[in-house]
Amino acid sequence: MGLVVAVTGAGSGLGRALAVRLAADGTRLLLVGRRAERLLRTREDCLADGGKPGDIVTLPVDLAEPGAAAAVRDAAVAAFDGLDALVNNAAQARFGPLDDTDVDTFVRLLRVDLVAPAALIRCVAPLLRRSRGTVVNVGSIGGLLAVPGRSYYGAAKAGLHHLTRSLARELAPEIRVNAVLPGAVDTEMYDDLGIDDDAVARLRAEMVRTTPLGRMGRPEDVVPWIVMLLGPDATWMTGSLLVVDGGRSC
Ligand SMILES: NC(=O)c1ccc[n+]([C@@H]2O[C@H](COP(=O)([O-])OP(=O)(O)OC[C@H]3O[C@@H](n4cnc5c(N)ncnc54)[C@H](OP(=O)(O)O)[C@@H]3O)[C@@H](O)[C@H]2O)c1
Repeated sequence: MGLVVAVTGAGSGLGRALAVRLAADGTRLLLVGRRAERLLRTREDCLADGGKPGDIVTLPVDLAEPGAAAAVRDAAVAAFDGLDALVNNAAQARFGPLDDTDVDTFVRLLRVDLVAPAALIRCVAPLLRRSRGTVVNVGSIGGLLAVPGRSYYGAAKAGLHHLTRSLARELAPEIRVNAVLPGAVDTEMYDDLGIDDDAVARLRAEMVRTTPLGRMGRPEDVVPWIVMLLGPDATWMTGSLLVVDGGRSC
């Protein structure tokens, strides 16, 4: 019987690619995100790639809402009687200069990108203790680099990195907590940054120009490292921030 893994933000981008890869390996999956139809599409992709219908469960929920973390825990217990791993992948990105970006935007960003992962870890920790499980947080090199116009997103991700390292110590030895820090990956995130289309086009060009390996990443460039952290090769890793960015942050 495969591992039971909850993946947030499973309806698109990295989360969807991760789910499909894990389903092909026989993992039982709880797919979490806001938009039900996106999650169902991911589920179809998982089934097409070898997943069994009873092993792939969807949970549409807004992780910024109160009670969302408990809903994820309860769904994992109801469907699979436990959990082996949580991948905190869901996030919102909002770019823009400080003067143009109100503080409510920052509060919303923090709720989704930092508070929700913390609440989820707290809520499923008893299940992960029982399974000697693991958490993988999807951070960002945006939490390492200081870039004008990206301070809110960068601060939220830097907070997630700190949470990863702190909880790695606090929850050891029962639960391992690591993070993967992608560079620029070509996903739907670029369709919803809160900036206009010209600015997005300039941003994409900048990402390619400043990435030593000469292109934006694809979800498939990042997924193997999340899979590695979930698996048996990483049993002596905790508190690691694994950068996968085509060299952009070096
Ligand atoms: N793409 C990049 O260049 C890049 C770089 C570094 C790090 N990352 C990180 O990689 C992770 C995946 O991003 P991605 O690039 O794959 O972008 P994406 O396709 O936009 O995926 C983000 C996912 O999060 C979900 N989500 C957002 N807000 C949510 C909420 N309140 N409740 C539940 N689910 C929510 C979205 O689904 P719904 O809208 O349906 O909820 C979506 O499926 C994120 O943590 C992102 O910060 C991405």
